[in-house]
Amino acid sequence: MENYQKIINSIYSNLKNVTDTGKVADYIPELGNISPDNFGVNITTIDKKSFGVGDFNKKFSIQSISKILTLTLAYQLEGETLWKRVDVEPSGNPFNSLLQLEADLGIPRNPFINAGAIVVCDVLISHLQNPKDEFLAFCREISNNNELKYNEKVAQSEKKTGYRNIAMCNFIKSFGNIKNDIEDVLDFYFYTCSLEMTCQELSQIFLFLANDDFITQRGKRVLTMSQAKRINAILLTCGFYDESGEFAFRVGLPGKSGVGGGIVAIHPDEFCITVWSPKLNKKGNSYKGMLFLEQFTTATASSIF
Ligand code: DON
Repeated sequence: MENYQKIINSIYSNLKNVTDTGKVADYIPELGNISPDNFGVNITTIDKKSFGVGDFNKKFSIQSISKILTLTLAYQLEGETLWKRVDVEPSGNPFNSLLQLEADLGIPRNPFINAGAIVVCDVLISHLQNPKDEFLAFCREISNNNELKYNEKVAQSEKKTGYRNIAMCNFIKSFGNIKNDIEDVLDFYFYTCSLEMTCQELSQIFLFLANDDFITQRGKRVLTMSQAKRINAILLTCGFYDESGEFAFRVGLPGKSGVGGGIVAIHPDEFCITVWSPKLNKKGNSYKGMLFLEQFTTATASSIF
């Protein structure tokens, strides 16, 4: 096995003081309070060996990375009919764009842009009695980690300022692709985005996408092999919005970013890696996170291509 600890330590120290041209997201005011200097990395292998460097044990707002978790639970509950409500095509547009929704009659391009995740939250509300509690219980079960929590301040901060998401949800409802009350859907969506995790917790929770034989502590599968393969395929093609091509080109792994500055990447059959650095590039993806992962897959020859 690769000496992951040595490799991540070395890339970390190369990048620690690199000039970061990114900017911390502050359109959700609470996210603007985070120190831009945070920088952490953690890798967990499918046999559960864990290697971390820097701020890998500090909690941060996972934001859009939660879109993988809501999709997973919705796929588990709804099965293949889910794809009638949300497509699996790259959007080539920013994460919060409304542009394509009109032409596409309210069917979002994929579950990893805001529009798609909002529809996925609507699907979950139709299945769950108490969506916030049951979704959190699902996250705790698949990670075997009862420490996971929403951050109320972040959720409320986004609720107050989430004008584009509010517009989007109303627009999709006008096409009939939101079945529940707008306020319930948005409230649930904002809470899912406010989940907090450390790099280590994130690289553990997504092992079910890296390991075909993954079962929870209670002996349950999270997804079938075919479903997990499909989620990885959508992550590769859509996980970084209009920078998904660039991420595949430079890093070569399925992955997902969040405006909290986290990036999760998955190497099927090997590991899951998380990088956190809050300054984002113009496309809303962590500047140093992408740089780190590019150097990591180069040093370990672990692009899937
Ligand atoms: O809905 C939003 O705008 C945020 N809660 C999540 C966006 C996000 O993380 C996009 N990521 N790069």
